[in-house]
Amino acid sequence: MARPVRTFVVIGHRAVTAPNFSLDDVPGTSGRLDVLLRCVAAAFVLSHGIRRDTEAYLILLGPPDPPRTVWIQGERLRHLNPDERTTAALFKKALALQPSGTAWLQSTPGIAVNKMKLDQVLERLKGRDLVLLEEGGQDVQLWKPGPNPVFVVGDDKGFTDHEIAAVRKAGAQQVSVGPLALHADHCITLLQNHLDRTVGPSPFSMAP
Ligand SMILES: C[S@@+](CC[C@H](N)C(=O)[O-])C[C@H]1O[C@@H](n2cnc3c(N)ncnc32)[C@H](O)[C@@H]1O
Repeated sequence: MARPVRTFVVIGHRAVTAPNFSLDDVPGTSGRLDVLLRCVAAAFVLSHGIRRDTEAYLILLGPPDPPRTVWIQGERLRHLNPDERTTAALFKKALALQPSGTAWLQSTPGIAVNKMKLDQVLERLKGRDLVLLEEGGQDVQLWKPGPNPVFVVGDDKGFTDHEIAAVRKAGAQQVSVGPLALHADHCITLLQNHLDRTVGPSPFSMAP
Protein backbone atom coordinates (compact mmCIF):
# COMPACT_ATOMS: atom_id res chain seq x y z
CA MET A 1 0.00 0.00 0.00
CA ALA A 2 1.31 3.49 -0.88
CA ARG A 3 2.32 5.61 2.08
CA PRO A 4 0.11 8.64 2.79
CA VAL A 5 1.68 11.97 1.96
CA ARG A 6 0.96 15.60 2.72
CA THR A 7 2.07 17.98 -0.01
CA PHE A 8 2.72 21.73 0.08
CA VAL A 9 3.15 23.83 -3.05
CA VAL A 10 4.58 27.30 -2.42
CA ILE A 11 5.12 29.94 -5.09
CA GLY A 12 8.02 32.37 -4.65
CA HIS A 13 7.27 35.15 -7.14
CA ARG A 14 10.64 36.91 -6.82
CA ALA A 15 12.73 34.05 -5.41
CA VAL A 16 16.02 33.86 -7.30
CA THR A 17 16.81 31.00 -9.67
CA ALA A 18 20.60 31.16 -9.30
CA PRO A 19 22.81 30.43 -6.28
CA ASN A 20 24.43 33.88 -6.18
CA PHE A 21 22.71 35.17 -3.05
CA SER A 22 24.41 35.85 0.26
CA LEU A 23 23.95 33.45 3.19
CA ASP A 24 24.62 36.48 5.42
CA ASP A 25 21.67 38.40 3.97
CA VAL A 26 19.16 35.98 2.46
CA PRO A 27 16.12 38.33 2.69
CA GLY A 28 18.01 41.19 1.01
CA THR A 29 19.76 39.26 -1.76
CA SER A 30 17.53 36.33 -2.79
CA GLY A 31 14.17 37.83 -3.79
CA ARG A 32 12.71 36.81 -0.43
CA LEU A 33 13.73 33.18 -0.68
CA ASP A 34 13.70 33.37 3.14
CA VAL A 35 9.88 33.21 3.00
CA LEU A 36 10.16 29.81 1.27
CA LEU A 37 12.90 28.60 3.61
CA ARG A 38 10.63 29.21 6.58
CA CYS A 39 7.90 27.27 4.78
CA VAL A 40 10.32 24.34 4.45
CA ALA A 41 11.06 24.43 8.19
CA ALA A 42 7.33 24.61 9.02
CA ALA A 43 6.51 21.72 6.69
CA PHE A 44 9.27 19.30 7.72
CA VAL A 45 10.98 20.10 11.01
CA LEU A 46 9.77 18.49 14.22
CA SER A 47 11.32 18.91 17.65
CA HIS A 48 13.34 15.70 17.24
CA GLY A 49 13.02 14.73 13.64
CA ILE A 50 11.72 15.28 10.14
CA ARG A 51 8.18 14.68 8.92
CA ARG A 52 8.78 11.75 6.58
CA ASP A 53 5.15 11.85 5.40
CA THR A 54 5.50 15.34 3.86
CA GLU A 55 6.77 16.66 0.55
CA ALA A 56 6.97 20.18 -0.86
CA TYR A 57 7.30 21.86 -4.25
CA LEU A 58 8.85 25.33 -4.06
CA ILE A 59 8.26 27.14 -7.35
CA LEU A 60 10.87 29.90 -7.79
CA LEU A 61 9.97 32.58 -10.31
CA GLY A 62 12.67 35.21 -9.86
CA PRO A 63 15.68 36.03 -12.07
CA PRO A 64 17.78 34.99 -13.90
CA ASP A 65 16.20 31.82 -15.34
CA PRO A 66 12.69 31.07 -14.04
CA PRO A 67 11.09 28.76 -13.29
CA ARG A 68 13.00 26.45 -10.98
CA THR A 69 10.94 23.99 -8.96
CA VAL A 70 12.65 22.52 -5.92
CA TRP A 71 11.06 19.26 -4.80
CA ILE A 72 11.70 18.18 -1.22
CA GLN A 73 10.75 14.66 -0.17
CA GLY A 74 10.61 14.08 3.60
CA GLU A 75 10.95 10.35 3.07
CA ARG A 76 14.48 10.74 1.67
CA LEU A 77 15.53 14.07 3.14
CA ARG A 78 18.96 14.48 4.78
CA HIS A 79 20.90 17.48 6.16
CA LEU A 80 17.83 19.65 6.92
CA ASN A 81 18.29 21.56 10.17
CA PRO A 82 15.89 23.98 11.87
CA ASP A 83 17.94 27.07 10.99
CA GLU A 84 17.30 29.06 7.83
CA ARG A 85 20.99 29.39 6.92
CA THR A 86 21.51 25.64 6.49
CA THR A 87 18.35 25.38 4.39
CA ALA A 88 19.55 28.34 2.28
CA ALA A 89 22.82 26.46 1.69
CA LEU A 90 20.83 23.40 0.52
CA PHE A 91 18.94 25.65 -1.92
CA LYS A 92 22.25 27.06 -3.18
CA LYS A 93 23.30 23.51 -4.10
CA ALA A 94 19.97 22.88 -5.85
CA LEU A 95 20.17 26.17 -7.76
CA ALA A 96 23.72 25.43 -8.92
CA LEU A 97 22.31 22.63 -11.08
CA GLN A 98 21.12 23.33 -14.61
CA PRO A 99 17.91 21.38 -15.30
CA SER A 100 16.61 21.63 -18.85
CA GLY A 101 12.98 20.55 -18.50
CA THR A 102 10.88 18.33 -16.29
CA ALA A 103 13.62 15.79 -15.52
CA TRP A 104 14.62 16.00 -11.85
CA LEU A 105 18.26 16.62 -10.93
CA GLN A 106 19.08 15.66 -7.33
CA SER A 107 21.32 18.08 -5.43
CA THR A 108 21.34 16.39 -2.00
CA PRO A 109 19.33 13.41 -0.64
CA GLY A 110 15.62 14.26 -0.80
CA ILE A 111 16.10 17.50 -2.75
CA ALA A 112 15.78 17.74 -6.53
CA VAL A 113 15.20 20.53 -9.02
CA ASN A 114 13.68 20.95 -12.46
CA LYS A 115 11.96 23.65 -14.54
CA MET A 116 8.29 22.77 -13.99
CA LYS A 117 5.74 25.57 -14.02
CA LEU A 118 2.77 25.70 -11.65
CA ASP A 119 0.46 24.14 -14.28
CA GLN A 120 2.84 21.20 -14.67
CA VAL A 121 3.15 20.70 -10.91
CA LEU A 122 -0.66 20.69 -10.67
CA GLU A 123 -0.85 18.17 -13.51
CA ARG A 124 1.66 15.93 -11.69
CA LEU A 125 -0.52 16.06 -8.55
CA LYS A 126 -3.78 15.48 -10.45
CA GLY A 127 -6.34 13.29 -8.68
CA ARG A 128 -5.22 14.37 -5.21
CA ASP A 129 -7.35 16.42 -2.80
CA LEU A 130 -6.29 19.96 -3.84
CA VAL A 131 -6.65 22.90 -1.45
CA LEU A 132 -6.02 26.59 -2.17
CA LEU A 133 -5.05 28.39 1.03
CA GLU A 134 -6.85 31.73 1.03
CA GLU A 135 -8.43 34.00 3.59
CA GLY A 136 -12.18 33.88 3.11
CA GLY A 137 -12.20 30.19 2.18
CA GLN A 138 -14.04 27.48 4.05
CA ASP A 139 -12.98 27.33 7.71
CA VAL A 140 -10.34 24.61 8.09
CA GLN A 141 -12.23 23.33 11.16
CA LEU A 142 -15.17 22.42 8.89
CA TRP A 143 -13.00 21.01 6.07
CA LYS A 144 -12.72 17.23 5.86
CA PRO A 145 -9.20 16.22 4.82
CA GLY A 146 -8.86 13.62 2.07
CA PRO A 147 -6.16 10.92 2.31
CA ASN A 148 -3.30 12.76 0.53
CA PRO A 149 -4.02 16.48 0.58
CA VAL A 150 -2.14 19.03 -1.52
CA PHE A 151 -2.03 22.63 -0.22
CA VAL A 152 -1.15 25.56 -2.46
CA VAL A 153 0.23 28.49 -0.47
CA GLY A 154 1.21 31.99 -1.61
CA ASP A 155 4.34 33.90 -0.58
CA ASP A 156 4.36 37.41 0.87
CA LYS A 157 2.80 38.60 -2.42
CA GLY A 158 -0.09 36.11 -2.29
CA PHE A 159 -1.21 34.79 -5.70
CA THR A 160 -1.68 36.28 -9.16
CA ASP A 161 -5.12 36.05 -10.77
CA HIS A 162 -3.70 33.55 -13.25
CA GLU A 163 -2.44 31.31 -10.44
CA ILE A 164 -5.77 31.39 -8.61
CA ALA A 165 -7.59 30.55 -11.85
CA ALA A 166 -5.19 27.65 -12.59
CA VAL A 167 -5.50 26.15 -9.10
CA ARG A 168 -9.30 26.50 -9.13
CA LYS A 169 -9.47 24.96 -12.61
CA ALA A 170 -7.48 22.00 -11.27
CA GLY A 171 -10.38 21.40 -8.84
CA ALA A 172 -9.15 23.09 -5.67
CA GLN A 173 -11.38 23.96 -2.79
CA GLN A 174 -10.56 27.17 -0.96
CA VAL A 175 -9.77 26.79 2.73
CA SER A 176 -8.96 29.38 5.39
CA VAL A 177 -6.99 28.79 8.58
CA GLY A 178 -8.41 31.86 10.33
CA PRO A 179 -9.86 35.32 9.93
CA LEU A 180 -6.53 37.17 9.64
CA ALA A 181 -3.85 37.18 6.91
CA LEU A 182 -0.98 35.09 8.27
CA HIS A 183 2.53 34.36 7.05
CA ALA A 184 2.75 31.38 4.72
CA ASP A 185 4.91 29.33 7.12
CA HIS A 186 2.49 29.93 9.98
CA CYS A 187 -0.35 28.63 7.79
CA ILE A 188 1.69 25.47 7.13
CA THR A 189 2.32 24.95 10.86
CA LEU A 190 -1.40 25.30 11.55
CA LEU A 191 -2.27 22.85 8.76
CA GLN A 192 0.24 20.24 9.89
CA ASN A 193 -1.13 20.54 13.40
CA HIS A 194 -4.71 20.31 12.10
CA LEU A 195 -3.87 17.11 10.20
CA ASP A 196 -2.02 15.68 13.23
CA ARG A 197 -5.12 16.24 15.33
CA THR A 198 -7.73 15.06 12.82
CA VAL A 199 -6.29 12.27 10.66
CA GLY A 200 -3.31 11.77 13.01
CA PRO A 201 0.39 11.52 12.18
CA SER A 202 1.19 8.57 9.94
CA PRO A 203 3.16 5.74 11.60
CA PHE A 204 6.30 6.59 9.64
CA SER A 205 6.09 10.37 10.05
CA MET A 206 9.14 10.38 12.33
CA ALA A 207 11.04 7.41 10.93
CA PRO A 208 14.82 8.00 11.10
C1 LIG B 1 1.40 36.65 3.72
S1 LIG B 1 0.06 35.84 2.95
C2 LIG B 1 -0.17 36.79 1.45
C3 LIG B 1 -0.54 38.19 1.69
C4 LIG B 1 -0.70 38.95 0.40
N1 LIG B 1 -0.32 40.30 0.63
C5 LIG B 1 -2.13 38.87 -0.09
O1 LIG B 1 -2.83 39.84 0.06
O2 LIG B 1 -2.55 37.84 -0.64
C6 LIG B 1 0.80 34.39 2.34
C7 LIG B 1 -0.12 33.27 1.98
O3 LIG B 1 -0.53 32.59 3.15
C8 LIG B 1 -1.84 32.06 2.96
N2 LIG B 1 -2.69 32.65 3.99
C9 LIG B 1 -2.46 33.73 4.74
N3 LIG B 1 -3.45 33.90 5.63
C10 LIG B 1 -4.35 32.91 5.43
C11 LIG B 1 -5.57 32.53 6.04
N4 LIG B 1 -6.10 33.23 7.04
N5 LIG B 1 -6.18 31.41 5.60
C12 LIG B 1 -5.65 30.68 4.60
N6 LIG B 1 -4.49 30.99 3.99
C13 LIG B 1 -3.85 32.09 4.38
C14 LIG B 1 -2.27 32.39 1.55
O4 LIG B 1 -1.96 31.29 0.72
C15 LIG B 1 -1.40 33.60 1.24
O5 LIG B 1 -1.19 33.75 -0.14
